[in-house]
Amino acid sequence: MKIIMLGAPGAGKGTQAKMIAEKYGVPHISTGDIFRANIKNGTDLGMEAKKYMDQGLLVPDELTVKILLDRVAQEDCKNGYVLDGFPRTIPQAEVLDRALSEIGDQIDFAINVDVPDENIVKRMGGRRACLSCGATYHIEHVPPKTEGICDVCGASLVLRDDDKPETVGNRLEVYHKQTQPLIDFYQAKGILKTVDGTVDMKDVFASIVAVLS
Ligand code: AP5
Ligand code: MG
Repeated sequence: MKIIMLGAPGAGKGTQAKMIAEKYGVPHISTGDIFRANIKNGTDLGMEAKKYMDQGLLVPDELTVKILLDRVAQEDCKNGYVLDGFPRTIPQAEVLDRALSEIGDQIDFAINVDVPDENIVKRMGGRRACLSCGATYHIEHVPPKTEGICDVCGASLVLRDDDKPETVGNRLEVYHKQTQPLIDFYQAKGILKTVDGTVDMKDVFASIVAVLS
């Protein structure tokens, strides 16, 4: 099963993608997490990506596409995957389509987690991220057991640089301009499924499971 998560920054793509990955036994692949791991490790890719991410801009397609195609070519992806944060532009979606059709394959579902802009800003300010293992918390909705510490790996939790209020506005603008057109793109292919992302995360997940089965 090959699934794409669509939705605004902070809509809950990562939260839901992790639950899908666990239930269906497929890897969760987040381009944002890959970039953040590279930033943390000080790689050239990380340094380059950070320039864009800190401003709320997209990392150029040339960099992003290669990383993603390398990742989905790995052995653990042969039975499927959940893509979270890719594709984010029409050219990225076209490259992915081409790469899949070359091996006689295709995306099965594009799940759009729908949350209006008003709700987004509040969510981002409360999010805390673990840069070591990628776990995500929310100070109100999903607090860690010990404040500021990751339940999974014990590392310190941080407010992502791009979750600062001045950057969130840019990310939403970039989303509407560059990523939202993908909703029509996948609608036209007949694989778009939209779920209400404003309800409790367990209920969002239940709607996704209903769509997938
Ligand atoms: P990325 O890491 O993908 O960030 P994003 O799309 O902005 O999305 P987020 O991770 O912020 O939100 P999410 O939808 O995963 O929400 P989450 O589940 O955490 O990308 C970061 C940057 O990397 C981009 O800006 C770009 O620069 C670059 N990049 C990445 N991919 C790229 C690509 N393909 N091309 C070019 N550039 C790329 O939830 C948010 C918060 O809300 C959490 O605290 C969570 O606990 C809480 N929450 C979730 N669901 C609910 C709910 N139902 N009710 C209440 N709270 C909830
Ligand atoms: Mg995410």
